[in-house]
Amino acid sequence: MSSSGNESRDGFTSRFGIICAAAGSAIGLGNIWRFPYIVGESGGGAFLLIYLGFILLLGIPVMMSEFVIGRRGQRNALGSFKRLAPGTPWYLVGVMGIVAAFMILAFYSTIAGWTLAYVVRSVSNAFAGMTSQQISAEFGTFHTTTFWPLVYQLIFMVMTAWIILAGVKKGIERYAKVLMPFLVLLLVIMAIRSITLPGSAMGLSFLFKPDFSVVDSSVILAALGQAFFSLSIGMGALITYGSYIQKNNNLSNISIQVTLADTLIAILAGVAIFPAVFAFNLDPADGPGLIFSVLPNIFQQMPGGYVFAIIFFVLLAIAALTSSISILEVVVAYLTEELNVTRRQATIMATSAATLVGVLCTLSFGVMEGFTISGLTVFDLLDFTASNLLLPLGGLLIVVFVSWYMKRDDVRDELSNSGVLKVHLFNALMFILKFIAPVAIAIVLFDSIGII
Ligand code: TRP
Repeated sequence: MSSSGNESRDGFTSRFGIICAAAGSAIGLGNIWRFPYIVGESGGGAFLLIYLGFILLLGIPVMMSEFVIGRRGQRNALGSFKRLAPGTPWYLVGVMGIVAAFMILAFYSTIAGWTLAYVVRSVSNAFAGMTSQQISAEFGTFHTTTFWPLVYQLIFMVMTAWIILAGVKKGIERYAKVLMPFLVLLLVIMAIRSITLPGSAMGLSFLFKPDFSVVDSSVILAALGQAFFSLSIGMGALITYGSYIQKNNNLSNISIQVTLADTLIAILAGVAIFPAVFAFNLDPADGPGLIFSVLPNIFQQMPGGYVFAIIFFVLLAIAALTSSISILEVVVAYLTEELNVTRRQATIMATSAATLVGVLCTLSFGVMEGFTISGLTVFDLLDFTASNLLLPLGGLLIVVFVSWYMKRDDVRDELSNSGVLKVHLFNALMFILKFIAPVAIAIVLFDSIGII
C-alpha cells in the first residue's frame, strides 16, 4: 500500500512488471507500423534525426513527469490532477487525455485488425508465389473492403476489453512480460534479410542519410507527433500506469529504459523495412499500408518465411494489444474511479464507444473514402488531431504542471523515492521541464498552425 493512497489499489507487483507494462504500452504499432510509414512520407533521414532529438529532449522528461503525477496522485489521469491541484482547471488536461484515448483507440484498432488479418493470411500462405506488385494489390483490395476489416477490428477490440476486465495485475502484467524479446529477435532477423536483398542499399541511405531540403514545418510536426505517439506520452496513459507503480521503483530509470527500448525497436523496424522497400521497387511514401505491402515480400525471400511470417504477425498483434490495453485503461480507470461505475460496465461502455468511432476509421479506407473533413479522411483526421495536436499539447501542459505548479520538493521527493535515491541532474531536468520543453512544443505547434 502506498503512502499517499487511501484505499487499496491494484498495482504492479514487481519492478520488472512495471517496466514490461510501460514498455508494452510504448512498443506497439507505433514502432512497427506508424514509424516506417511516417518516415517514408516525411522523406527519411532528416525526419529520423529530428525525431530522435524530440525523443531525447522531450520524451524522457514528459514520461518522467507523467509517472510523477500518477504515482503522487494515485489516481487515473483526470483524478490525479484533481487530487494534486484541487479546485483548479488542471483536471482538463485529464479530460483532453480521455478524448485523445478514444480517438487513438478508434484508429489503432483499424490497424490492429489488419494485423490480425495478416496472421490469418500468413497461416493460409496467401502470398505464396506473388510478385511484390500482386502483394500490394492484394492489400489494396483487402483494406478497402467492408466486411473482413470490420470483423478483425471487432475481434481486436473484444480481446482488448477482455484483458482489461482481467484487472491490472493479472491482466496487463501477465501479457506484457514475456513476448517482447521475441519480437526484437525476429526484427533483427528480418532486418538482416532486408539489408542483404539485392537493390536494398538505397533503403539504408534513405533512412540514415539526412536530406534537410525536404524538411518543412509539417515534417517537424510529424516528428513531434510520432515521438509522443510512440512513447505513449501526452495523454495520461503513463499517469494511469504511474499510479500503479510502487513507491520503491525508480521512475527515472524506468523512463530511460522504456524510451531506449522503444526507440531501438522503431529503428530496427526501419532497418527491416526500408531496404526491402527499395529492393522491391515499392514507394516509401505509400502511407498507412506500407508495412502490409512490404513485409510479405521479405518473408517470401526468407528460408522458413512461412513460419516467420506467422510468428511475426502474432507478435505484432500482441504488441498492439499491450498498447491498446494501456489506452483503454485510461478511460476505464477514469470511469471506475470518478464516476463509480463497475470495472465491467466501464470496460463495456468505453469499448463500445471506441468501436463505433473505430468502424468509421476502418471504413474510411473503403466506402467512406470520399468523406473528408478539410481534406482528411476520418482515419487521418483522428490520427492527426490526436497524435500531432492533442498529445503534444497534453505533454506541454503536463511538464508545465510538474515544473511550475507542483512544489519542487514534491517532484524531487517523488523522483528520489522520498530521499532514498540520488536524483542525478535534477536541476537540469527542472530547467528542461520549465523552459525548454514547453517552448519547443509551443514553437512546433504554433509553427504548424501557421501562427509563427
Ligand atoms: N505507443 C503505442 C504504440 O507505439 C500506442 C499507445 C499506447 C499510445 N498508449 C498510448 C499512444 C498513449 C499515445 C498515448 O503503438
